[in-house]
Amino acid sequence: MPGLITMDDLSNEEILSILDDAQRLLPVAEGKTYLPLLQGKILGNLFFEPSTRTRMSFETAMKRLGGDVVNLGDVKTSSVVKGETLFDTIQMVDGYTDIIAMRHPRQGAAQYAQDAARVPILNGGDGAGHHPTQTMLDLFTIQQAHGRLDGLKVILAGDLRYGRTVHSLSHALTRFGCELILASPSLLKMPPEIVADLNAHGANVTETEDLLGSIETADVVYMTRIQKERFADEDEYAKVAGAYKLHASNLDGAKEDMIIMHPLPRVDEIHPSVDQTRHARYFEQAFNGVVARMALLCRLLDVEVPADIGGGA
Ligand code: CP
Repeated sequence: MPGLITMDDLSNEEILSILDDAQRLLPVAEGKTYLPLLQGKILGNLFFEPSTRTRMSFETAMKRLGGDVVNLGDVKTSSVVKGETLFDTIQMVDGYTDIIAMRHPRQGAAQYAQDAARVPILNGGDGAGHHPTQTMLDLFTIQQAHGRLDGLKVILAGDLRYGRTVHSLSHALTRFGCELILASPSLLKMPPEIVADLNAHGANVTETEDLLGSIETADVVYMTRIQKERFADEDEYAKVAGAYKLHASNLDGAKEDMIIMHPLPRVDEIHPSVDQTRHARYFEQAFNGVVARMALLCRLLDVEVPADIGGGA
């Protein structure tokens, strides 16, 4: 059964339909309504890299819908340390579960796992590749704030080279006709093959090193952490560490309804002074991981989300 490896796996119509499901599932995500749509189903959480939000929100999503979760747990206490291959691990977990959420340090690992599995794989991040379930919660957050996805001006800022969230998100936003400002130090520019893909989809893209120059006209500012763990050379990291730091005082001329997003965790790229502004949306964004992943789990497990759930949706 096909899973979700990149945003290419979903049409725009499917994206909007899953976001509609997510909207209706909000009272379930908030614990106001119990709706055991996934009772009897088991999610396998295979996280070969650290995670707080993706792993925990998948687990919360499954449990809020009455399903269950089995975790690989700490890789160091699994049979991976005995030399078990990803292929063999997937063969086992495929038999134990109905669907698998996986994060792996190697780009392409999610597709490799999908090719080896009978159950759907949800790519929770493959190296510097893609993070499509994050994109679904990002789109939900943008739609919640602006009431639409099309025609917005979005700044993607920070580590565009290694940041997999912006690889997936830029692709989706382009398909919905957004204007993109790609703001990064030159060492961390968006990979040329991704820019080529955006252009092939008719993108309106500007690449710049100046983060602040477009803030007054932006609808969304999407900050990212510099992915220290992906640098082969500490000296290279030192050249770009702390390159962008957004402070509340940088937002004086911003549009009233401009939102600041971040996939989190943050290091120093968003100063805590921003948290108190009307623009900060990153903690709501992290909560939206539950509702977006609920909708994705239902979709990939072929379980229909009722049109009327009740509970204040
Ligand atoms: N946004 C995100 O992927 O967070 P985690 O690394 O904590 O899962």
